[in-house]
Amino acid sequence: MRSIKANIIAQIELVGGRHDEAEIYGGPAGDLGLTGGPGSLSWEINGDLASVTGAGSAAILMEVLHPSVMHGVFTQSSYRTDPYARARNTLGYVPRSTFGNTEAATRVIEHVKRVHSYINGTRADGVSYRALDPALIAWVHTCIPWAIMTAFDRYRRPLSRAEKDQYLKEQALIGRMGGAEWVPETVSELEDYVERMRPLMAYNDQTRQFGDFLLGTSGDVATTRQQRFESWMGPHGSMLMMPDWARKMTGTYHSSVMERFILRPNEKLKSRLVRWAVGELPCKTMALARVSGAAPRPASSDISNSRQQYAA
Ligand code: HEM
Repeated sequence: MRSIKANIIAQIELVGGRHDEAEIYGGPAGDLGLTGGPGSLSWEINGDLASVTGAGSAAILMEVLHPSVMHGVFTQSSYRTDPYARARNTLGYVPRSTFGNTEAATRVIEHVKRVHSYINGTRADGVSYRALDPALIAWVHTCIPWAIMTAFDRYRRPLSRAEKDQYLKEQALIGRMGGAEWVPETVSELEDYVERMRPLMAYNDQTRQFGDFLLGTSGDVATTRQQRFESWMGPHGSMLMMPDWARKMTGTYHSSVMERFILRPNEKLKSRLVRWAVGELPCKTMALARVSGAAPRPASSDISNSRQQYAA
């Protein structure tokens, strides 16, 4: 019988991937990557897998509250037919852009931009959009560090305002490289921006169907009662980090009793379990070794495999 630790790791890797490719996380000695290296808040916060996984559902739900993002994902993503591969690729963006060597991280971002260049459409209400619209990229980008930072602050260690500002600033580079023109770089900019974006948010039929899929109640994938329970607890717990208006819109708002005695303790327990099971992420260990010069340089065949993987 597999140990509890091995089971937790297997579950996380199924959904989020392993992230230990030498061609991405190894590389030139001293290369800090894009977000600042070992002394950065990005390495501390995004290196805490519990915060990244705990934030995942909230970030995704916030992203798709924008009806253009929802339409793009609903009509042009393989999330229904290939959910694990889709999740691994999407969630993999965080470790790759944070801990990857400068060349590999840049290549990953460029690849994702190329994918986005084919994504466009017209919503049921007649509004046309394209994924590479800097305003849409800014919204999707913002939801990611916002949710991860909040999870870290709540379940790992409280962050000072200055630390949050620093983290948002480090992450802003990734947002701009992904195609945004402007993204919030401080907590006050983030708060103002979210308020400005709020009137654009919608919970429509596509969001409802997407939410059902996330909760395991859509019928697309066969699920046991236990899986449905876990799928329910995940997004509902994750959305605790988001403003009340968003929780109300997404049907994830609950009484304070439910929040205090069930959802919050469950999130806290999950984050402790993930930290206990995973420890330091392999990609962070490899990136630290790279910076200190202890990482083996990837073989040239690894580099060309990686180039092929992220080529158009
Ligand atoms: C900074 C903002 C964004 C990030 C970080 C991001 C991240 C990603 C990643 C990592 C992928 C996987 C690429 C691959 O297949 O290797 C992806 C694909 C995709 N993204 Fe984005 N995205 C962003 C913005 C958007 C926006 C604004 C839209 C819609 C308007 C969108 C819709 C999609 C769709 C439909 C796919 C294809 C999924 C599939 O093939 O199943 N994304 N995105």
